[in-house]
Parts: sequence; C-alpha cells; structure tokens
Amino acid sequence: DFNIGSAVAGGGHHQDTDEPEPFRTDPQYRRILAKEFNSVTPENQLKWEMVQPEEGEFDFERADEIIAFAERHGQDVRGHTLLWHSQNPEWLEEGEFTDDELRDHLRDHIHTVVGRYAGQIDQWDVANEVFDDGDPPQLRTDESIWLERFGIEIVADAFRWAHEADPEAELFLNDYNVEGINAKSDAYYDLVQDLLADDVPIHGFGAQGHLGLQYDIPGDVEENLERFDDLGLATALTEVDVRMELENDEPTEEQIATQAEWYEQLLDACLAVDGCDSFTVWGFSDQHSWVPHSFEGEGAPLIMDEDYERKPAYFALRDRL
Ligand code: XIL
Repeated sequence: DFNIGSAVAGGGHHQDTDEPEPFRTDPQYRRILAKEFNSVTPENQLKWEMVQPEEGEFDFERADEIIAFAERHGQDVRGHTLLWHSQNPEWLEEGEFTDDELRDHLRDHIHTVVGRYAGQIDQWDVANEVFDDGDPPQLRTDESIWLERFGIEIVADAFRWAHEADPEAELFLNDYNVEGINAKSDAYYDLVQDLLADDVPIHGFGAQGHLGLQYDIPGDVEENLERFDDLGLATALTEVDVRMELENDEPTEEQIATQAEWYEQLLDACLAVDGCDSFTVWGFSDQHSWVPHSFEGEGAPLIMDEDYERKPAYFALRDRL
C-alpha cells in the first residue's frame, strides 16, 4: 500500500537548454521509472508555464505522455502544482488584470487542468510554498501574484475549485523546510486548522524533503507528520533529495554513506506514521537532478549516480520496504 515515487524529469531548466528530456529519449530511463516506482510526479510538466504558456491556450502534450505511461504501468500520479509564485508564464506575471480577471484565470486553470485528469491524478499539490523562511514565516505576498492580490483567501478558493473539478483527488499543501517541527511547519499547522474550520476540502500535507548534508536533518520528522495526521490529514514526503557540497565535482564515500542514512531516516519517519503512505524522490539519477542547476557547487543528491548505478541511498530505501 506504500507509494515510492519519482519526479519525471523534463521542462523547467531543461526548457532553455539543449538538455535531453530522458523521459522522451532514453529507454533506460523509462525502464527504471517503470520498474522501481509505483508513483510519479511530473517535475515541471504540470506547472502553469508548461500547461498554459499563452493566455487561454493549454498544452497538455507532455503531461499527457507521463500520465499515459503511469496508467500503463499501474502507477499513481501526484499533480504538481496549481498555485505557486514560481514558473508562471510571462503573460500571467506581467499581464494587467483586474482582481476579477485574475481570479477567473486561476479558477479556469484549476478547473481545466484538474478536470482533465480527474480519476487519473490521485493527489494534487494545490498550493505550493505559500510561506517564506522568515521567523515568523510570512505569506509570500511579495513574490506571489496570487497572495499579493488576494491574500490567504485565494488558497481556500484554490482548494475548493480543485475539489469541484475532481472530488476524488486528495488535495495537499506542500512546502520545503517543513519536515521537522519549526516556525514554518507551525505556520502550516495553524493554517490547516483554519482551513478545516472553514470546511475547506484539504486532505494532505506534503513535506518536500529537499535536504543538504551541510545542514542538519531534523530529528522530529515523525512527530511533525504525526501532528498533521492527528488533524486527519494524509502526509507525504513529496520531493526528497539530499544534496551535498562537492569538492572537485565528486562526492566522498563518507558523504554518500551519510546521504544513505538521511534517506533512510526520512523514509523511517514516514513509515512510522499511519497516514504517510507516499515517499517521492525528486528524480532518481544524479544526471537529471535540478540541484546542480540551482545550487552552485552542490550535487549528487539522488539514489542513482549519473550512469544509473545504484548508490547506497538506493539500497537504504529498498531494504526498508
Ligand atoms: C524544480 C525543478 O526540479 C526544476 O527542473 C525547475 O527548473 C525548477 O523547479 N520545489 C518545488 C519544485 O516545489 O517544483 C521545484 O522543482 C523544486 C523546489
């Protein structure tokens, strides 16, 4: 009953480069994706900029391919994401819309995308990263067109619209740095209670799980997931990777060993919580990870190396399942 998932690489930073999209071009990639995982998350292919690149013009080509693949292989799909401050198309970010027009765009987008995949996408990250890393955390009103204009109310709307479009889908809030108990996960804990009190259809809390060896792994992940579980929510690790600072572009054996321990600890925390039944790694091969593109000098965050050789982290996960 447990879902081990992977992000499916493509789009995003690949869009602006000549980098291959392995899902489309690399048979070995597809074999591993089909064999090792029973859940997939399109890494970029359901984000606004990919799905609605021009106003009112939807492009589902890449998302359709992934979802058909998942159907063929009996895999669940996590949909990512509907309301976020990042990877929005330029027309949306730069457009001069009235409040009503902007709100209508979000509603139409959610109805169209969630409705298209009703019955096929099992869980949706409806709202992603609504709080920043401040102490206390603030709503990202400076960065998000949605939160700037409408405040937290738009989050409740997004959940309601998603629920209208697919009453069966499990609807999640999702963020990073919320694995353990801290000011940011506290903010979500409060927000979830507010949403539930208002009868907003929210069903899950996702901790992304982007960790870095130069920081600490929180020791209270289980307790944190448990408190959301106690509110009646499903929980999930949605984007796990464990990056590291690389000397001469190569990880040391010690780094790779510690990485495996961290993967195992995160999985253990999830396995210990009843309603945590989904653990997704943000890709499987270091060859396609977003990390080297986004964190200078860091890399090697995933469970297989660039040649698809299984790393200790792979065996750490497999041996627990
Ligand atoms: C990242 C993708 O992995 C990259 O390919 C893309 O260029 C940028 O976005 N949190 C999230 C994910 O919720 O959507 C992000 O994915 C990583 C951080």
